[in-house]
Amino acid sequence: LTPAWIDSDMGFDDLAAVAMVVASGRRVAGLSLVAGNSPLPRVIANARTAADLFGWDFPLYGGAARPLVGDLVTAGYVLGDNGMPGGTALPEPPAGPDLPAMLPALIRFAEGGGRDLLALGPLTNIAVFALARPDLAQGMRLIWMGGAPGRGNHTATAEFNAAVDPEAVQVVIDAGVTIRMVGLDPCRQVTVGLDDVRLLAGRAGPHASLLAGLMEGYCRIAADGTRPMALYDPVAAAALVAPDTVSFAPARLDCELSGRLTRGMTVIEWRAAKAAPNALIATDADAERIRALFMGGLAHAAKGK
Ligand code: BDR
Ligand code: CA
Repeated sequence: LTPAWIDSDMGFDDLAAVAMVVASGRRVAGLSLVAGNSPLPRVIANARTAADLFGWDFPLYGGAARPLVGDLVTAGYVLGDNGMPGGTALPEPPAGPDLPAMLPALIRFAEGGGRDLLALGPLTNIAVFALARPDLAQGMRLIWMGGAPGRGNHTATAEFNAAVDPEAVQVVIDAGVTIRMVGLDPCRQVTVGLDDVRLLAGRAGPHASLLAGLMEGYCRIAADGTRPMALYDPVAAAALVAPDTVSFAPARLDCELSGRLTRGMTVIEWRAAKAAPNALIATDADAERIRALFMGGLAHAAKGK
């Protein structure tokens, strides 16, 4: 397997998804950061801290600070200023120079034969790459956590990553990237709760209690932990590292750009006779196996570098 490239807006579930890829042994060529869950400086700070604590051995790159069109909307109303849910924050990162820019590095990755992209946030960086190098974009395979065929989470109809940058979603679709979309519905099949937090807290390693604190804040997003909390980005990571844990079916995918109530909605035409499929849409996820991969990824990170 060639190395994979990860793009992320580094919330807690992004961090867990990256930890799953690391624990799987799949090599990572680079991690590019994008504004989404938080403004870009906070996304970068959290990624640098995570890389330092958990010994991530791949380079980090700075990407887009705002969507292709319009102003950035963040999930600050859920995550607060430190970009992580609940009261637990990651420590501030060690001092260091600014991150290099993502675009030249992602182009080098693709020119060198890299094909696999895992996108865990708004698609702005991937769209910037597709606009700069449409020739390379055509050959890429993208697994993206985003979109919602039905009920949204950021709005009634739109999933957060799609809602932050709908134009980027459509650019990536139109560029002919082979897209595997892991939307909200399959992710809602894979849940965790406070019992899983207690299991993590009991794992060995210098970072077990920090990660358990972050995970507790995440679980408490769902009715203060009294309801199961869905895993999002980890389901997309599972589709990369254990492809048979997520089922996909072909369909025509587009993103609504102008609806008064539906901007950012991913519109899926399942009737192949009406429109030729251009994407693979996740329909089902193996909850038990993905939960085990998620817990295993965090337990691996807990041990540190
Ligand atoms: C997505 O939004 C973000 O807050 C999560 O990290 C995930 O990528 C879920 O809608
Ligand atoms: Ca994310």
